[in-house]
Amino acid sequence: MSVPSTNAIAKQLAHQNAPHGLLVAAEEQTGGKGRIGRGWSSPEGRGLWFSVVLRPKFPPEEAPKCTLMAAVAVAEAINYCGGITAKIKWPNDILFEKKKMVGILSEMGAEYGKLNYVVIGIGIDTHVEPEDLPEDVKPIAVSLHRVAAKDFTREELLARIMGNLEDLCQEAEERGFEGIFDRWRGLSCTLHERVKVIAQDETYPGVALDIDRDGHLLVQRDDGRVTAVVAGDVSIRYAE
Ligand code: BTN
Repeated sequence: MSVPSTNAIAKQLAHQNAPHGLLVAAEEQTGGKGRIGRGWSSPEGRGLWFSVVLRPKFPPEEAPKCTLMAAVAVAEAINYCGGITAKIKWPNDILFEKKKMVGILSEMGAEYGKLNYVVIGIGIDTHVEPEDLPEDVKPIAVSLHRVAAKDFTREELLARIMGNLEDLCQEAEERGFEGIFDRWRGLSCTLHERVKVIAQDETYPGVALDIDRDGHLLVQRDDGRVTAVVAGDVSIRYAE
């Protein structure tokens, strides 16, 4: 089935009381949305394009942590199904050998201090070919089937991700995010690297030290100051 964007549909259904765990998946998206107002190429049958409605029981300020949690769920599933070692670039891009394989776009609905829903939109290039992608994306993207050491089906991968997400949501609610953040750290390719932070009003280089309790990236600037970088309008590049 072809839709403009599974995130748009999932948000609409969330407003109509869709339950926790509802999955919206499409074979093709004609208006796939990426982070920071970008688009997301989602050609027919060449990837997993889907969104999940979560209704976590924690407050809205904790919602961004779901994004890191989703990255752990997807990275662990990809590594299991594909037999590879994909890594997470903060906050939630999944890369294989520095090329992007997965993008995650989280959107939330909240009012009066209450978190109504979080929609986690996940795009995985499983069988995308370079000719499917815009020129600027071609050199920095990679498809799972090209590098996988094991056979997998898209259905198996999707089922594994959904199972991981369910387990991680339960863990977050019962025991908090610390254990999940430790798993994120183990999968990260950002920590201890030199990075360039591109925020709306400034750009600066530094070293990615760690993530804090809120999932913000702690970057030590060259003058020694440590800044907690909040995901959203920020882009992280590896410094040359
Ligand atoms: C990124 O820019 O890295 C995030 C890309 C997220 C793409 C996925 S595909 C399924 C879901 N529906 C959308 O419109 N976007 C997300």
